[in-house]
Amino acid sequence: MDGIYLDYAATSAVRPPEVVEAVARYLRDVGATPGRAGHRLALEAGRITLRCRAALMELFGAEGDPGRIAFFPNATYALNAALFGLLRPGDRLVRTAYDHNAVRRPAALLAARGIAVTVAGGRADGGIDLDELDAALAGDARPARVLCLPHASNVLGTALPVREMAERAHEHGAIVVVDAAQSAGHLPIGVAAMGVDVLAFTGHKGLLGPQGTGGLYHRPGVEIDPVSAGGTGGDSMPLAMPDAMPDRLEPGTLNGPGIAGLLAGVRFLQERGVEAEHRRESALKLRLRERLAAIDGVRVLSPAAPEGVGIVTIASDRIPPDRLAWRLDHEHGVMTRAGLHCAPEAHQLLRCAETGAVRFSVGWATTTGEVDAAAAAVASILEDARETSAAARG
Ligand SMILES: Cc1ncc(COP(=O)(O)O)c(C=O)c1O
Repeated sequence: MDGIYLDYAATSAVRPPEVVEAVARYLRDVGATPGRAGHRLALEAGRITLRCRAALMELFGAEGDPGRIAFFPNATYALNAALFGLLRPGDRLVRTAYDHNAVRRPAALLAARGIAVTVAGGRADGGIDLDELDAALAGDARPARVLCLPHASNVLGTALPVREMAERAHEHGAIVVVDAAQSAGHLPIGVAAMGVDVLAFTGHKGLLGPQGTGGLYHRPGVEIDPVSAGGTGGDSMPLAMPDAMPDRLEPGTLNGPGIAGLLAGVRFLQERGVEAEHRRESALKLRLRERLAAIDGVRVLSPAAPEGVGIVTIASDRIPPDRLAWRLDHEHGVMTRAGLHCAPEAHQLLRCAETGAVRFSVGWATTTGEVDAAAAAVASILEDARETSAAARG
């Protein structure tokens, strides 16, 4: 790729060659859809899909039937399926101020349908007050049915204490739904150890798969009602969706080539080791953060948070975020993301909701040289902006 890609939190646009080859091989040599026939190509497609479910179960520290992984086109669909499939009018949802619109907007739709929604407060350091969370879970009239939280914030890069939050939620009888869009592939995840009942993930970020992949894990004992219905390739006579997973939540044709690529991405990560990858990305993040913080005119908004994901978000009074991102790309080949990152409440915590910010995010292929070059590019643009505004002042 030409340029320096530092937008991995949006999509891992730089992919391991194994992923590209797996998609090409599927399209070239397999081509059929899993679960839609008994011929050899459909069976091979089914084997790939099953391997991908099993690899994801292993990656998430989940035991048992790989059918507990249902595929969706992305984390947004998976989160909608979980929230709409779990909550009924009269129930209460507790969510956090760090939520992406993939949770915030479904929560607003649910609120319009008679589900009470409580937002647990956040802080600029990415933390959460567990006593406040307790009060939010207890509620005035009835305890929460679901606690939904992001494992890692896509704006601050910080990770929430999932295990402690899940413990509190379970004390109140709530189901814990974790949005792992930013953490899957970047942070070790153990659903059983962390007390996660439902986990939504996306394929195109840390898991290094193609766009159009993502899914949902839910543990046995948690019932998610289907919110979409349609063909499942078998058991076709009944009007109701089958009880068996994953068919229950997976109507329609699956994204076979995408799932083949996702399997290759997960295997690539398993070979590298998620823990090792986290340490590497965390070191790059801290290096970038330190270099950016040393630049006159830069306000680093995201906390250092070595235990979080590889995100550094900045702002500057000298140049609007979209202009800075544009100049970084067009003058220095550095690709970042400006704006509110679909999580305006997190920007409110950082007091930059009026303007937004510029987010740098590292990934599996990022090097120290790239991080240093990105910081040097910011320094050069801000110096130029300072000179320009000094000249304008006369
Ligand atoms: C925290 C978080 N949740 C959910 C999403 C949505 O993911 P997807 O693009 O797979 O729907 C994102 C993507 O930016 C995210 O950062």
